[in-house]
Amino acid sequence: MKTLGVVGAQWGDEGKGKVVDVLAAQADVVARYSGGNNAGHTLVMDGKKIITHLVPSGCAYKGTACVLGAGMVIDVDVLQDEVAGIQGHGLLRDDELKVSLDAHLIMPYHRELDGLREDSRIGAAKIGTTRRGIGPCYEAKAARRGIKVRDLFDPNTLRVRLEGNAAAVDAELLHLGASRGVDVDALLKSASGWARWLEPLVCDVGAVIDDAITDGKRVLFEGAQGALLDVDHGTYPYVTSTTTTAGGISAGLGIGPTKIRSVWGITKAYTTRVGAGPFPTRAEGEAEEQIRAAGGEFGATTGRPRDCGWLDLPALRFAARVNGLTGLCVTKLDVLAMLPEVMVCRAYRDGVTPGRDGFSRAQPIYETLSGWGDPALQSLLRAARSLSEIPTAVREYLDLIEQEVGVPVTLLGVGPDRTETISLADPF
Ligand code: GDP
Ligand code: IMO
Ligand code: MG
Repeated sequence: MKTLGVVGAQWGDEGKGKVVDVLAAQADVVARYSGGNNAGHTLVMDGKKIITHLVPSGCAYKGTACVLGAGMVIDVDVLQDEVAGIQGHGLLRDDELKVSLDAHLIMPYHRELDGLREDSRIGAAKIGTTRRGIGPCYEAKAARRGIKVRDLFDPNTLRVRLEGNAAAVDAELLHLGASRGVDVDALLKSASGWARWLEPLVCDVGAVIDDAITDGKRVLFEGAQGALLDVDHGTYPYVTSTTTTAGGISAGLGIGPTKIRSVWGITKAYTTRVGAGPFPTRAEGEAEEQIRAAGGEFGATTGRPRDCGWLDLPALRFAARVNGLTGLCVTKLDVLAMLPEVMVCRAYRDGVTPGRDGFSRAQPIYETLSGWGDPALQSLLRAARSLSEIPTAVREYLDLIEQEVGVPVTLLGVGPDRTETISLADPF
């Protein structure tokens, strides 16, 4: 079986897009299983940058199927624009894109509710969502009044569903300051356009992927967000609304968990977070500014500055456990090499652990690493294409990560371009 899950092992933005783009050179199918356009995955090839929000990051190869699974939530207007943008680069033929009939649709009123709710929250109640309608859409799904892609092809059911949703959310919309409630007629009109556009793309995604696996094809499962944004295992309530961890692959695509051969977690060489919630190893003052500037740490979806800090090994150990990681990809080593001083957290004070105690009480114990802070380090790293070309201080850092997390390092990122990668293991 040639399947591999690629998941975020931190709070998102670890470099999943780049890693999936690199690995997709060897894949036949790349499938997203959860989330929506809260994700922003960056691919860089020969100076050309593509940011995917809904389309899987295998889109830069001809002949690779890009699949959007049932666990996703889809804003069709956003998907149409994104596909047009990618096709403008001469990529992603229509027959390479496949959309699950069971994915849920983000409606304009989900987006509006998301924004109005964020605006109405005060202080610690603010989640800092991406305002893309993710939470309200998954909320409707769990309440069994969500609207699936398949409903677009049945206008009678769709009208009944929309009216049910209007009854459920109109009062809240108006209370929060919206000028009007859900406009069912206007939505039915948009929906007929969405149906026409989606019609050639929809399919039984579970069957497509299962058949591909049976035929010996190479299938990549692309995660969105990260382990610590997982709705069950993350820093709740400061999380997204989905199972971001590897457990979501099977549920979100409609294949059995026994079809997932291995799972690689992506981690930056340091840590970032965007949005509210606990971040134990966040750096202070100038150190944070230095990391943000060196790493260009601004959100690929919202452009917000990301909070930045040091690698949190207890959090990474936790992510390795909840995902059952079999490999770790360490990205942005070149960025760490630009910093005057590098710190790492191996443990929290008083024996606090993420699984038992959560993250809000976590107080990191730091060590400063030797051998970093050398101005020559970054150019050495960016030029390196094999482990033997990696400077000693960096190799020692990788050894420390492997030893503390108990998972082998399988891929290194030494720059944003797909060529700035060192592969240490066969993904399939
Ligand atoms: P994702 O959401 O996990 O796909 O990550 P994002 O695309 O949101 O953010 C990762 C950022 O880091 C993007 O700007 C990438 O181009 C960039 N990036 C990824 N890997 C590397 C790396 O190894 N070195 C550097 N310098 N940049 C990287
Ligand atoms: P990728 O796939 C980083 C964060 C938001 C907010 C919380 C909830 O690019 O790694 P939501 O809009 O999902 O309800 O917001 O989750 N968040 C992300 N942070 N990367 C992401 O995706 C994220 N998707 C959601 O900032 O804190
Ligand atoms: Mg991102």
